[in-house]
Amino acid sequence: MESYYVTTPIYYVNDEPHLGHIYTTIAADVLARYQRMAGRDVFFLTGVDEHGQKVQQAAEGRGIKPIELADQVVERYQSLWPELSISHSDFIRTSSERHQKGVQAMWKRLESAGAIYKDFYEDWYCVPCETYWKETQLKEAECWDDKQCPDCKRTVEKVQEESYFFRLSDYQEQLLAHIHAHPDFIGPASRRNEVLSFIESGLHDLSISRTTFSWGVPVPGDKKHVIYVWIDALTNYLSALGFPDPAVPKHWPADIHLIGKDILRFHAIYWPCMLMAADLPLPKRIFAHGWWTVEGEKMSKSKGNALRPTELLEAYDADVIRYFLLREVPFGHDGDFSFAAMKQRYNTDLANDVGNLLNRSLAMLNKYRDGILCEAGAEQEMDRALIADVQAMQRDVAEHMETPAFHLALERISLVVRHGNRYVEDSAPWALAKAGDDDRLNSVLYHLVETLRLVALQLLPFMPSKMRAMLKQIHGDIELGELSFGAQGGWGLLKAGHQCEKPQPLFPRME
Ligand code: MSP
Repeated sequence: MESYYVTTPIYYVNDEPHLGHIYTTIAADVLARYQRMAGRDVFFLTGVDEHGQKVQQAAEGRGIKPIELADQVVERYQSLWPELSISHSDFIRTSSERHQKGVQAMWKRLESAGAIYKDFYEDWYCVPCETYWKETQLKEAECWDDKQCPDCKRTVEKVQEESYFFRLSDYQEQLLAHIHAHPDFIGPASRRNEVLSFIESGLHDLSISRTTFSWGVPVPGDKKHVIYVWIDALTNYLSALGFPDPAVPKHWPADIHLIGKDILRFHAIYWPCMLMAADLPLPKRIFAHGWWTVEGEKMSKSKGNALRPTELLEAYDADVIRYFLLREVPFGHDGDFSFAAMKQRYNTDLANDVGNLLNRSLAMLNKYRDGILCEAGAEQEMDRALIADVQAMQRDVAEHMETPAFHLALERISLVVRHGNRYVEDSAPWALAKAGDDDRLNSVLYHLVETLRLVALQLLPFMPSKMRAMLKQIHGDIELGELSFGAQGGWGLLKAGHQCEKPQPLFPRME
């Protein structure tokens, strides 16, 4: 079976989960579910990033050990994921032994490749952003006079310490060549260009160890140093698979790393260079999504306006949240979250379009045929057009999931739903029933039910519970079990004599 490996970033444990975290994880889950249904052997990884000065300081502030703080937040994530129907294969913690073993093995590989050396550096460090700035960068950003972080405008600290460095600059040409040879390596295209111009402006060697805090993985053979967070964090994608046993584990290289745009440089520059130095295969694709604002405002800890998943789950079903987040904003773009927009989408796309097609079709099937499908009569032009549209949808969605462009996939499915609703209007089953045109009525009802079934199958990765419920109404007594595009994706699976259930509203209109 062909492997498919999808990852989310590992989330910092110094904050509770918010909209940004669930967004990437839901996107990854949809890909994982889709690829499982497409017959791939899927490994879907998420987890938490526990080390670093920020976490150490946050824990100290609360008078607890870093691991205690981490345990509390891990618990929040682990109880949240099932509530959002996240179907991850594994959950990696960077404090775990398996991860530390992986990170130290990575370090040793880099070291034996001659890619690590010891030196001193003097820099400006932003604790909240965990970012080091050079004097020149602060000057360029006009942050030198006030010693501010160019990103968050908080005060940066001067730091001078002994540190190990990674020869990032040695891999500049090799990385450029790789990006040029693999047009799909970084998505979307605008981000790829951003990365290219960053590399072309010249890569500097990277400081990869710290002596100023202790909450991290020790440098092998030098207990004074801990491995800097990004080397530690990025290696999770391999350590979770068992690296270094074997060095190239099953499922590696990853098919896609899903990340937010703010951590693109780490994933599209540091990580591939590390892998090249360690002589390991590079991930196939890195895709950076945009950022959400909430009701027009940037989410921030200081404003305390981060949108928490609990608040969302109190208002909407998990499936509706999943649908909305992936439908509302083109994947890769920034977007704004608002409850008004969510309600609007719910009512138009789900209640009016999908819900309505399901209800009216099953209602008519029950009213005219006691819920039983009858042999379809001679195919007419409008029937052929509907079937062709359903089949084109399946192909188009498959293409959009490669990008991934979830909004386009959902938009494409919506087109078929609207086509189905138009088909009802145009064929007017009520008139056929009145005229006693049984053959034609049987045909129309059959085409509607098959369309609904195949629409539900395409929507299943996005709305797993709602679509299973929808398929249950259609499949009636047929055991649902594992569903796949291969086994269930063909037109005409349901045979004459099959009994559907009575319609149960899945998406009642919200007033
Ligand atoms: N620990 C690092 C990632 C290491 S991966 C090897 C980290 N953690 S984080 O918790 O700060 O952020 C995780 C993800 O949340 C990032 O991909 C980031 O883009 C995403 N988001 C944080 N706020 C966001 C929004 N407002 N909107 C969308 N995503 C956002 O970075």
